[in-house]
Amino acid sequence: MPKLLHVVGARPNFMKVAPVLHAGRARGGLEQILLHTGQHYDVSMSDRFFHELGLPEPDVNLGVGSDTHAIQTGKILINFDPVLERLQPDWVVVYGDVNSTVACALAAVKRGIRVAHVEAGLRSFDRTMPEEINRIVTDQLADLCLTPSRDGNANLAAEGIPAHRVRLVGNVMVDTLLRLRPAARERRMPHETGVDGQAFAVVTLHRPSNVDSREVLAELLEGLAEVARVMPVLFPIHPRTRQRILDFGLESLVGGVRLLAPLGYIETVSLVDQAAVVLTDSGGLQEETTMLGVPCLTLRPNTERPVTITEGTNRLIESSRAALVTAFREVMAQRNDGGYRPGSPEGWDGRAGGRVVAALLGEPDELASARS
Ligand code: UD1
Repeated sequence: MPKLLHVVGARPNFMKVAPVLHAGRARGGLEQILLHTGQHYDVSMSDRFFHELGLPEPDVNLGVGSDTHAIQTGKILINFDPVLERLQPDWVVVYGDVNSTVACALAAVKRGIRVAHVEAGLRSFDRTMPEEINRIVTDQLADLCLTPSRDGNANLAAEGIPAHRVRLVGNVMVDTLLRLRPAARERRMPHETGVDGQAFAVVTLHRPSNVDSREVLAELLEGLAEVARVMPVLFPIHPRTRQRILDFGLESLVGGVRLLAPLGYIETVSLVDQAAVVLTDSGGLQEETTMLGVPCLTLRPNTERPVTITEGTNRLIESSRAALVTAFREVMAQRNDGGYRPGSPEGWDGRAGGRVVAALLGEPDELASARS
């Protein structure tokens, strides 16, 4: 029986592994092992997602915790290696672009174990982003690069990765979004947070480029305070960002913005689904807003998810007070003009998890046959 070892470590991995595990379980005839590196460990960043997404307890937890990139990556390599020796999986399946993704891919290929990368091929072409380095290295290592959108296939071809190692499977995170959207509607977070029936904004910020510089973070908080004069601004705050606001002494700039503890997945979708606008530097939210038809202002100079711009509701804006306020006003004007429609890129259809499993089992490419 083929043995798949799925690797997760940080918050954005959990919504990606869920549909693949579920699809594998539904088919049967597979042994599936879930490994958590422990990169994220707080209940609010990890455990609650397992519960909401219907994930089983991890079979193995490497317990690495937070540290510098090199130490965190090194600890994962060291702790994962004996697990591979003991379990001898046929495939190690890694997700997304976090440190756990690249570390586990490297440990596995060094043991001659095949690696599949789910969400392969995305590129921001910005090597200052830690995730970009993780993406490039993981794709070079992987035996099977499973892409969420066609731009991913083009990026991999440009880097010399042969076509037989690449397959378009669509977006697994969309599977999770479509499955849990009804539960998110029932959760009624706008009601709970007292913004029901009003236009409101949702904000998330955690990228080093936005929150690790005092000047940039101050500009962004000033811009958000201006938005908060027009409508409620709800800001579920990542632990890194909360710490930086304290480190830089910027508490007074938070103004009318409502800081919330990090939210669970269903709470987040419940709010975002009803939001007038989302301001974010998250990768996942760019995709979720595109699916939900909610305008998204991404506070970054680039995105590795261009279909959210060409086929969705996303727009890149500079991380400055002036750019944020101008873009917010433009979105509001466009909204009053008739608004935004949900996007539907190829393979963003709720069935990507099944296509990942089919690819791992060497079955025919459903999306390719649909095109021919
Ligand atoms: C990581 C990922 C990023 C992803 C993000 C989602 C990398 C390189 N980065 O960034 O791609 O978008 O997760 O959240 O893998 N912390 C806690 N509790 C936790 C986890 C972290 O308090 O459970 C704090 C620690 O102080 C830690 C800091 O957050 O130092 C940063 O955590 P880390 O995992 O290093 O990176 P993220 O910024 O979360």
